[in-house]
Amino acid sequence: MHFYHEHILPHLIHLVCGSSNFHRQRERIVPQAEGRVLEVGMGSGLNLEFYDPGRVKALFALEPSRGMRKKARKALSKAPIPVEILDLPGEEIPLEKNTMDTIVLTYTLCTIPDWRKALGQMRRVLSPSGKLLFAEHGRSPDPKVARMQNRLQTIWGPISGGCHLGREIPTLLEEGGFQIQKLETGYDLKGPKFVSYQYLGVATPRG
Ligand SMILES: C[S@@+](CC[C@H](N)C(=O)[O-])C[C@H]1O[C@@H](n2cnc3c(N)ncnc32)[C@H](O)[C@@H]1O
Repeated sequence: MHFYHEHILPHLIHLVCGSSNFHRQRERIVPQAEGRVLEVGMGSGLNLEFYDPGRVKALFALEPSRGMRKKARKALSKAPIPVEILDLPGEEIPLEKNTMDTIVLTYTLCTIPDWRKALGQMRRVLSPSGKLLFAEHGRSPDPKVARMQNRLQTIWGPISGGCHLGREIPTLLEEGGFQIQKLETGYDLKGPKFVSYQYLGVATPRG
């Protein structure tokens, strides 16, 4: 399984998450990042081209997987702004309290094992006036699809590197100490319904 995670999965994730359909979602969310930005779960760096160098003062990209960091090298070399890589998981963000203006979370909350702890860390480093931008796939509101998401999880989890099909993203964000300010939902990602239901929006730290 180690070989798969380090040498095969990064290429598969890059291929799937690099499709034009995902790009359209990135285009909608990433350019809103401003100030000091933390991206959690950078993956292969597919968001990097969408940051606006005129708005972003500093970019920290956290990615715990060595294979994914390796896969991100090409995108990093072309990034419009310098990027500081943090090779730790979201549960252990090595940044000071209240120092970030924006957190970017795309297709990552589904995979973070201890999402509650990781969101607590994001809230800690985010300034009280900061925002969390998210685009995540998750639980479908259609009970039939949700049941399928539950049934498929035992196979999907190991092959996808720990991705959960059925996480209800707004609930996680709210339980993690955030307040949803904007939310768009729908089967906006291409593919079967069990992976294509998306939650896209903006959340702020709850006071
Ligand atoms: C499906 S990929 C998405 C990558 C990228 N955010 C994107 O939009 O293309 C999920 C990413 O979450 C990362 N990840 C897994 N566990 C994590 C954790 N505990 N904290 C932060 N990121 C994690 C994986 O290594 C992987 O790069």
